[in-house]
Amino acid sequence: MTATTETTGELLLANPWGRLTAVSVMAVFLAGFFFPGLGVWTSAICTAWLIGTQKPWRGFVFILATSFLPAALWHWNKTSMTTAAYLGWAPAAMLIGALPYLMHRLTSRRLQGLLSTLPLPLWGVVFQEFGRRLLPLDISNLISPAQSQHSNTPLLQIAGVLGSGAIAFAIYWLAALVNWMWDLDFRPERIGRGAAISATIFIVAIIIGVYRQFTGHAIPADSSAGDVWPGLSLLAAVILTGWAFTRPDKQRTPWAGRPDALALLRSPLTGDPLHITFDHGREILQSRSGEQFPIRDGIPDFATAQDLAGPNLKYNKLYQAIAGFYDSTQKVGLALMNVNRRNLILSSVAGLQIKPGDRVLETSVGTGLMFGHLPGGVKLSGLDLSWGMLANCQENLRRWDLEADLFRGNAESLPFADNSFDVVYHCGGINFFGDIRKAIAEMIRVAKPGTRILICDETEEYVKKNYERMPIGGKIFKGRAEAVAAPIALVPPEMLELNVDVIFRGQGYVLTFRKPIG
Ligand SMILES: C[S@@+](CC[C@H](N)C(=O)[O-])C[C@H]1O[C@@H](n2cnc3c(N)ncnc32)[C@H](O)[C@@H]1O
Repeated sequence: MTATTETTGELLLANPWGRLTAVSVMAVFLAGFFFPGLGVWTSAICTAWLIGTQKPWRGFVFILATSFLPAALWHWNKTSMTTAAYLGWAPAAMLIGALPYLMHRLTSRRLQGLLSTLPLPLWGVVFQEFGRRLLPLDISNLISPAQSQHSNTPLLQIAGVLGSGAIAFAIYWLAALVNWMWDLDFRPERIGRGAAISATIFIVAIIIGVYRQFTGHAIPADSSAGDVWPGLSLLAAVILTGWAFTRPDKQRTPWAGRPDALALLRSPLTGDPLHITFDHGREILQSRSGEQFPIRDGIPDFATAQDLAGPNLKYNKLYQAIAGFYDSTQKVGLALMNVNRRNLILSSVAGLQIKPGDRVLETSVGTGLMFGHLPGGVKLSGLDLSWGMLANCQENLRRWDLEADLFRGNAESLPFADNSFDVVYHCGGINFFGDIRKAIAEMIRVAKPGTRILICDETEEYVKKNYERMPIGGKIFKGRAEAVAAPIALVPPEMLELNVDVIFRGQGYVLTFRKPIG
């Protein structure tokens, strides 16, 4: 028996300010291209965001190409240097300018809270001073936020009191803070304390600067003279970076130290139990019959060539390409649609019956967005076919201070023993799986008897309105043989309490059913 109801009211999903906020913020960033006093702040925010969407070295190349190369070309005719000298110095300036972002990308992910925002300003001040000493003045202006701030009076006031390093510190720190808050969805419970502390520091610095200005303290002609910022920043940057790289990483706890999770693992090919062995000092999973599965960055890899074929291969290429941008585009996209993203996520998983201590599995976990909205006190496991999405999931879990066992594999052949999980769900992806029936059968197999299973995804209306119109990747959604729909017919008849809810203004479905006991 199937029921179809509209459960989520427009009011709950409505975010009337979403579009206005998104458009206003975009306008501010666009204005940054025309007003250098603003651009120095917005470009630092964008550059820190862009490198954060990619693996470190790839991100480094990205920001060199999209941020520093255009700046170098723009400045070409604006210096008194000869072309040969400019061509010689510009690459050095670009590298020095981009290095603080690389150091931040490498270090900040190993830190928590407000501390994670500090590598960028600390290394920023250090490399700015390095550039100032090494590069000719004309070209050091190219990479120096402090030098390019002649029109930015409040900043110069702060610098007059605190030294020119303060300007660079403020610009880089604000960029890191905005990105940190963005990654935490500006959720007050996550950013509240850090936002209050940093805002207080900024306000106090500005008050001191303005006060000194009014009481006649002039800004020194060379505001870098006697500046203590570079030395102190270098010391702090080295200590912070050293600590970040030597502290234990929860996401990479050796599998030998996770006996409970290990006991649930089975070869997806033969169903054999798995144990840990070592290959050149690295952990790998092995079955009695000798099958081996590598573990990369703490994530066991069960995907085979057969898993990456047909539609799964096609969509995997898409997810690999967009992984770094997935979270941001989802946030901006839903804001532009005036949709409250948090309520949409909550309404998608509202049908889950989660109790403290439950073992929860999400198939196609992606970047782990759902995990961030589930009740605490549960043991989380997530599986996905895309390395890129899993890498971003690991980063999100670190940011949100959550722990989860992650696996790379195909949702159509799960690497777990029968009856392993108290909660099993899937949100997004199944519409385009190669074998949807098998994926549902696998969810049922690994769920404990009596478990309520939940599957949600978009309706055809959403796919047509949004995915098919995407400028990048849109064409792979066009010309499909079948329209997407809730896969009710693929749920085995013995399942109980089968139900479909239509959510998200008719653009999403939530299918639930219960695995019978016995
Ligand atoms: C739309 S995203 C949803 C991610 C996440 N559940 C969320 O709510 O944000 C779809 C995910 O399905 C994954 N996926 C696609 N085909 C898969 C398969 N056959 N097995 C496992 N994951 C798959 C993709 O890599 C991607 O991360």
